Amino acid sequence: MVPPYLQVSSVSLGYGGVRALFDVSFSLDQGTMLAVIGANGAGKSSLARAISGLVPLQSGMIRFDGAEISGRPSHLIQRKGVVYVPEGRGIFRSLTVEENLLLAMRHLSTRSSRLQAKDFAYELFPALANRPKQRADTLSGGEQQMLALARSYTMDAKLLIVDEPSFGLAPKLVDQVFESLRQATARGITVIIIEQFVDRVLSMSDLCLILAGGAVNWSGPVADARAVLHERYLGSSTSANGPPPDHPSGVEAPAETVAPVNSQRMPDIE
Ligand SMILES: Nc1ncnc2c1ncn2[C@@H]1O[C@H](COP(=O)(O)OP(=O)(O)OP(=O)(O)O)[C@@H](O)[C@H]1O
Ligand SMILES: [Mg+2]
Repeated sequence: MVPPYLQVSSVSLGYGGVRALFDVSFSLDQGTMLAVIGANGAGKSSLARAISGLVPLQSGMIRFDGAEISGRPSHLIQRKGVVYVPEGRGIFRSLTVEENLLLAMRHLSTRSSRLQAKDFAYELFPALANRPKQRADTLSGGEQQMLALARSYTMDAKLLIVDEPSFGLAPKLVDQVFESLRQATARGITVIIIEQFVDRVLSMSDLCLILAGGAVNWSGPVADARAVLHERYLGSSTSANGPPPDHPSGVEAPAETVAPVNSQRMPDIE
């Protein structure tokens, strides 16, 4: 049997004695998109940092593409193709748009491959193509987000982890950002997307993981996630622009008290 592309097994971690993740497990096949949703403080970014090696695990193990990555330095994990686009962008603010892209592509050895990568980035985000010489810190919030994503696409990502990519963006830019992620998956990139726009993100993901209080509250195919969200958080709207229906601000129940729905239909995720 082929092992999962990404396997997160019983991961726990904390910051200075305060636990942020409790026994989190799931797996992901290559080329799929996983939506991670949950309230503020639920542990979504901590999970992203754990996979990318930015915070050490207290226990558990993470395997990616046939090798254990937990415990390895973040730059080596990145070299394996795990690219994390953090909340609040992750760009070099004092460098220009073009310099940011060139730095992201430094692993590409030939001029033609760099040109190709740059063309792809500019094709996805024409707004950046018009301002290669502009300093990143003078870009608008939306343009900075585009630059962060454009950088990740030129970094030869195999597993792309994007943390709230639509945060603070106007609806039109949100469309562009989501469309670029759809194109990334169409190219075979595996994506973990942390998002507050639940409806939007579920409509383009394959699987969904709901975190609450640092633990897995539910996981399974997106087709089942909608029913779960409606059932558990009834009364909230599923509007694409409003807060997520699950916005599990009220979800404080321990994970084990919440039975997975249709667990027999969760082949890809544990
Ligand atoms: N560097 C840190 N030091 C101490 N505590 C931290 C640190 N980073 C996160 N935490 C705590 O860990 C918990 C999980 O935080 P995390 O950032 O993973 O949540 P999140 O789900 O990404 O929230 P948000 O939706 O607000 O981004 C929170 O209680 C947070 O206060
Ligand atoms: Mg976060």
